[in-house]
Amino acid sequence: MLRIAQLTKKFGRNTAVDAASIQVEKPAMIGIIGRSGAGKSTLLRMLNRLEDATSGSITFEDREITGLGGAEKRAWQADCAMIFQQFNLVPRMDVVSNVLHGTLNRRSTVSTLFNLYPNEDIHRAIDILDRLGIAEHAPKRAEALSGGQQQRVAIARALMQDPKIILADEPIASLDPMNAQVVMEALRRIHEEDGRMVIANLHTLDTARRYCDRVIGMRAGRIVFDGTPEQLTTDMAREIYGADASFSEEATSTEIGALDRSAKAAAVPA
Ligand SMILES: Nc1ncnc2c1ncn2[C@@H]1O[C@H](COP(=O)(O)OP(=O)(O)O)[C@@H](O)[C@H]1O
Ligand SMILES: [Mg+2]
Repeated sequence: MLRIAQLTKKFGRNTAVDAASIQVEKPAMIGIIGRSGAGKSTLLRMLNRLEDATSGSITFEDREITGLGGAEKRAWQADCAMIFQQFNLVPRMDVVSNVLHGTLNRRSTVSTLFNLYPNEDIHRAIDILDRLGIAEHAPKRAEALSGGQQQRVAIARALMQDPKIILADEPIASLDPMNAQVVMEALRRIHEEDGRMVIANLHTLDTARRYCDRVIGMRAGRIVFDGTPEQLTTDMAREIYGADASFSEEATSTEIGALDRSAKAAAVPA
């Protein structure tokens, strides 16, 4: 389905992604982990053509992606919607208009200029917001929402494109544990219910383990691990994050685990 072969990106003398190869047979939820600077964002950005590869290839459903230009490139970018750590919403614009922005790539300049959205698009936007549990916020300005709600608006905007793949670059890195959990569960549900592929860069091991079917570990631009969460041993994690004596799972862990532990502790009768 998706085949990445020897994909490389150089910035001057620095190799950000070094001959990365990944093969995905059917829609999966994939987590990419690794230290800051490992090349995770660059890999995602090459996938949706925000960044051009220096060499290597990307094929999706037997089509070469690296060479697409113009309208074909834009169509591909609609097929693989991207969400970001900082949500990238228009803060002063209402939520539903932010979601409708997800249809921009297939609307005329004139209707865009005058903010004319077809009724069916508006209904679809509300349905998607409803599915993500935030329909009641539709008329509010995006900036009035919490971080977790804003990230769900960004997911709704992505879904408006009806993408085959959702690329998420550290989608929960700015969120508190509770909101992080809501957002990861939303992505998981979109994968399971819609059969969309989700590829998420995650800065913590435990989130990848918990929500993903497959985990890819990057170190210094190279893929050093590709397997199931079960195969991701502590030794392997040390290999990914660097064989540092101070390495501990706790140090690479979001507080989602901690949240669960405290919830469990709270449930134990005193
Ligand atoms: N636009 C750019 N120009 C120059 N160097 C870049 C650029 N983007 C990323 N890099 C470099 O590429 C490497 C990988 O970065 P990045 O993909 O952002 O890693 P990660 O997302 O894992 O933190 C880093 O050394 C970074 O400094
Ligand atoms: Mg990054």
